Amino acid sequence: MISPADDFAGAPLLRTQFTLDDGHGPVTSSELMVSSLGIFEAFLNGRAVGPDVLSPGWSSYEWRLRYRTYDVTALVAPVTVLGISLGNGWSRGRLGWNGNRAFYGDRLAVIAQLELTFADGHRQLVSTDQTWRAGPSATLANDLYDGQTIDARLADDTWMHPGAAPPGWGGVEALEFDTSHLTPYVGPPVVRHEAVAPVRIWSSPSGRTLVDFGQNLVGWLRLAVQGAAGTEITVRHGEVLEHGELGVRPLRTAHATDRFILSGGLDRFEPTKTFHGFRYAEITGWPGELTAGALEAVVVHSDLRRTGYFECSDPMLNQLHRNVTWGMRGNFLDVPTDCPQRDERLGWTGDLAVFAPSATYLYDAGGFLRDWLRDLAAEQQAQDGIVPLVVPDILKYEKDQSAFPELGSIAIWSDAAVWVPWALWQAYGDRGVLADQYASMAAHARRVESLLSPSGLWDAGPQLGDWLDPQAPPGEPFKAKADSHVVATACCYRTAGTVADTAELLGRVDDARHFRQLAGRVRAAFNAHYVDRDGTVRSDCATVYALAIAFGLLDDVMTARAGDRLSALVQQNGYRISTGFAGTPYVTDALTRTGHLDDAYRLLLERGCPSWLYPVTMGATTIWERWDSMLPDGTINPGQMTSFNHYALGAVADWIHRTVGGIAPLEPGYATVLIAPRPGGGLTWARASLETAHGLVDVHWHHTGEDLTVEVTVPAGVTGLLRLPGQPDRELAAGRHAVTVPFTTAGSQESWH
Ligand code: BGC
Repeated sequence: MISPADDFAGAPLLRTQFTLDDGHGPVTSSELMVSSLGIFEAFLNGRAVGPDVLSPGWSSYEWRLRYRTYDVTALVAPVTVLGISLGNGWSRGRLGWNGNRAFYGDRLAVIAQLELTFADGHRQLVSTDQTWRAGPSATLANDLYDGQTIDARLADDTWMHPGAAPPGWGGVEALEFDTSHLTPYVGPPVVRHEAVAPVRIWSSPSGRTLVDFGQNLVGWLRLAVQGAAGTEITVRHGEVLEHGELGVRPLRTAHATDRFILSGGLDRFEPTKTFHGFRYAEITGWPGELTAGALEAVVVHSDLRRTGYFECSDPMLNQLHRNVTWGMRGNFLDVPTDCPQRDERLGWTGDLAVFAPSATYLYDAGGFLRDWLRDLAAEQQAQDGIVPLVVPDILKYEKDQSAFPELGSIAIWSDAAVWVPWALWQAYGDRGVLADQYASMAAHARRVESLLSPSGLWDAGPQLGDWLDPQAPPGEPFKAKADSHVVATACCYRTAGTVADTAELLGRVDDARHFRQLAGRVRAAFNAHYVDRDGTVRSDCATVYALAIAFGLLDDVMTARAGDRLSALVQQNGYRISTGFAGTPYVTDALTRTGHLDDAYRLLLERGCPSWLYPVTMGATTIWERWDSMLPDGTINPGQMTSFNHYALGAVADWIHRTVGGIAPLEPGYATVLIAPRPGGGLTWARASLETAHGLVDVHWHHTGEDLTVEVTVPAGVTGLLRLPGQPDRELAAGRHAVTVPFTTAGSQESWH
């Protein structure tokens, strides 16, 4: 691991030049491995070695530093320069909302090895060592939160090409580094995706130039511009407008500002050492008139393959679904983050715990999440079994200033250790995930078990509970209607049961028995202490019923009563949503399972504030953190937690896929697939399709009011179970099927669990 002796403003360039060994014939293969403290881009004779950006991403660097491997056979010449550009990234840049930086050390460094194999089997190695040279780049400042400054007058590509190092270059130092921390990527790298053109350029009321890209996205601007040398262009990024101006208050302390200084010639800028969550850009200092052709927004996130789709006859619902997808895209940037724009962008465990089933339908997120789960397990192991609130965990370094100094294990958030591997198992049917994560899953369940009161309830210690209940005051998002211990005990039951299921699958008989008993004890305590004889669950609000029903905490009679009570509460609230992070993902399922499908649809399709569709009426193109991040009068919610790109409340997509679309795994990985669309809500058609490990499952239903026709494609090797309202189940073999039955919305209550 080598580090430049001089820091060069946090964006040094490093190079080595080598000549191919003589007399061994042509190079038959060459493989480059690179990792760094800070982010890197690598080049051979000026050509990028791969499509990735922001590598090596963000992992729990204390234990896992990933390296990338590139086949660079086509890029090696008789004389070659291996050049590497570094930036602060996650390792040395800002992280968290307390203004701190450099959690992982104050040096930027790189480790690289290029292995060349010649026709006669000879091998030549080129590695980072003290002969490398380091020098300055045109980047004068870079930070993921704050943005990047590039001075094109300093740009000079000669360093990337054979010849002497440019003047002003200096040496490097070897850094102490434990190479056992190096590990290959499990998931995909971060890459550029599409470029989005401006849809509008105009002047704000205060005279500033604003650009709208029509979509809240994550990435950066790429621009081509010519103007007098020394001219400075400033680009600020924002997700929304307020009073006609760029609304940057939700970014809190993140500056999200790029600066570009012109050389006098034609300059092309692309700030690859930062990223922003934005739909709008405010541009000052542009020479002459800014035209749409001069700039574009580059969408950046992990290289995930899209697998799942949904569409229906309601354009608003389609927009909601698009918003969920874009929310995932923006927040699956190497780490599954809460939000991509403000001074946070952390791997909040609870957000993913509830969103994982939706994520694994929309994209093949298997490698991505397995990679993250390894960090989760590493952090947990270092914290005595406690699963931290964020992974990678930087809050552990912020004990004094953290908003959460005392938290240990927390329901939903820490439950990610169990719920996320389980979601992966359900979606992809790969038992290896459970085997890999089992120690972490069981350690979490044991840790929670140790926190239970003698009564069997999880009723001591702080909780985040039904975070962001819409009725909680903007400044106190934890003040939910739902009793946080009811929420925690319900989650503990689900976790214990899931770990018991996992232990059974893995043949761990003693553990299975232990966790099954634990689940039984918690369920009994829940019923004894929190459920009245008439079926009232303590704190009597939608979230507690949603969890009690969806997690199976009640017997059949009580489930029916709880369902009726939930339905009454939902109606009383005029179908405005009343749940936060805990209840929202489960409320539609709980209604569906207890025979209140119509209420589930009305809740989903409600447009008044707060509701899922309210943001759509306000022009949202992503899922918001709060139901009312933007208030009906067009002003930004005054709370600190006001992102416009947070996937957590988009977890309803999972219900949409299973219940409206009608695709659910009956066996993990869709080896048997349940096709059970439940038409309702006035929809006349819907279509869901999913590229499973076995092939494409496609369901398209439409009804005339009298007849319901369902067209289904079942891939080879898979059995479909078709369950339609008012009809007996039928088995579908692989192939295409079309079935028409009389239309009714009545149907079996239970669609899936
Ligand atoms: C994050 C949330 C997170 C929560 C927990 C917030 O700052 O943005 O998504 O789960 O904190 O406290």
